[in-house]
Amino acid sequence: MNNGHSLPAAFPAMRARRLRRTPGLRAMVSETQLSPADLIWPIFLTEGVDVVDPVPTMPGVARLSVDRAVRAAKRAKGLGIPAICLFPYTEADRRTEDCAEAWSANNLSNRATRAIKDAVPGLVVMTDVALDPYNANGHDGIVREGVIVNDESVEALVRMALAQAEAGADILGPSDMMDGRIGAMREALEESGHQDTVILSYAAKFASAFYGPFRDAVGASGRLVGDKATYQIDPANGDEAVRMVARDLAEGADMVMVKPGMPYLDICRRVKERFAVPTFAYQVSGEYAMIRAAIDAGWIEPEKAMLESLIAFRRAGCDGILTYFAPDVAELLNG
Ligand code: PBG
Repeated sequence: MNNGHSLPAAFPAMRARRLRRTPGLRAMVSETQLSPADLIWPIFLTEGVDVVDPVPTMPGVARLSVDRAVRAAKRAKGLGIPAICLFPYTEADRRTEDCAEAWSANNLSNRATRAIKDAVPGLVVMTDVALDPYNANGHDGIVREGVIVNDESVEALVRMALAQAEAGADILGPSDMMDGRIGAMREALEESGHQDTVILSYAAKFASAFYGPFRDAVGASGRLVGDKATYQIDPANGDEAVRMVARDLAEGADMVMVKPGMPYLDICRRVKERFAVPTFAYQVSGEYAMIRAAIDAGWIEPEKAMLESLIAFRRAGCDGILTYFAPDVAELLNG
C-alpha cells in the first residue's frame, strides 16, 4: 500500500508489470491469504432423519436433519474448516408469540449442537441467538401490540443463550440487535459457570435486503410483519456501526461481526483498524444467491468469483468469513 513513505519511482525505472509477470513472482508479492481456517460454514437444520431439503432461493444449499448435519460437521473438520454455525428451521406449531421453543433444552438447534459436539468434538460449534426462527411473526424480538419490545426480548435471549451454552455451543452469535443483550448474556454466562463461552456479536448488523433467502431457509419470510428497521442499522450509517461495535465490546463480546459483507467492506476496515479485535464478516444469503445465480447462468467463472469475493474480506481486515461457499472454497483451497 502506498502509505506516503514509499512513493514509486517514475516509469520506466518502475514498471509494475515486472512483479506481475509470472505466477511465482505474483505469489511472492501477494499481500493477503485465504485458507479454510478463515471460514465459518453456516448450516440450516430441519427435523427428521436423513433429510436434505434444498432451499430454492439458495441453489446448492439445503436444510439438513441432525444426522446429516453431523455428516456435514465431519466434512468441515476434514476440510480444515474450524467452525460451523447452526440455524434451525422450526416446525410451524413451535413458532409462538412467546418464542418459548427458543430456550427449550431439546429444540432442534440444541439437539444438533449436542450431536455434533459428541461426534466431532474438535469442531467449533456456533449458534444463533435471535428469536426469529421461533417467533410467530418472524421478528428477532418479542412483539407487543406491533412494537418489538427491547428489555423483555433481552430476557428471552438470555434464556436462549444459556440453553445453547448448556447444550455445548462454543460460540454464541447474538444476531438480534436488541440493546443491552451482550452485557446481559455475559453476566448470565458468568453466573452460571459458562465463563468460557465465547460471544461473537453481530455488532454491526444492517437492515438489509440481502437476508431474503435466509428468511426463506428458516421459514421466516412469509411470517415477517413489517421490517427490522427499528432494531437493525440503517445502511447509510457507518459511524453508528462503529459505535455499536464499541458498545458490544464494552459489554463483553469477544469477537465482532459485520453483516452483510460485500456492501459493507468499509465498515470491516474501520472496525479492524479502530479496535484491532477478531473481526468477522458474514457473506449473507443474498450475496451467496447473487453470485450463485450468475455462476449457474454461466455469466461469471465459479472458482474465481468465489475466491475473489472472499479474499476481499481478508484484504478489508477480516479475520474470517461466514460463507455458504465454505465447503466448496475449502475444497478448492485444499487443491
Ligand atoms: C436472524 C438472522 C438473519 C441472518 C442471520 N441471523 C436474518 C435477519 O436478520 O433477518 C441472515 C443471514 C443470511 O442472510 O445469510 N436473526
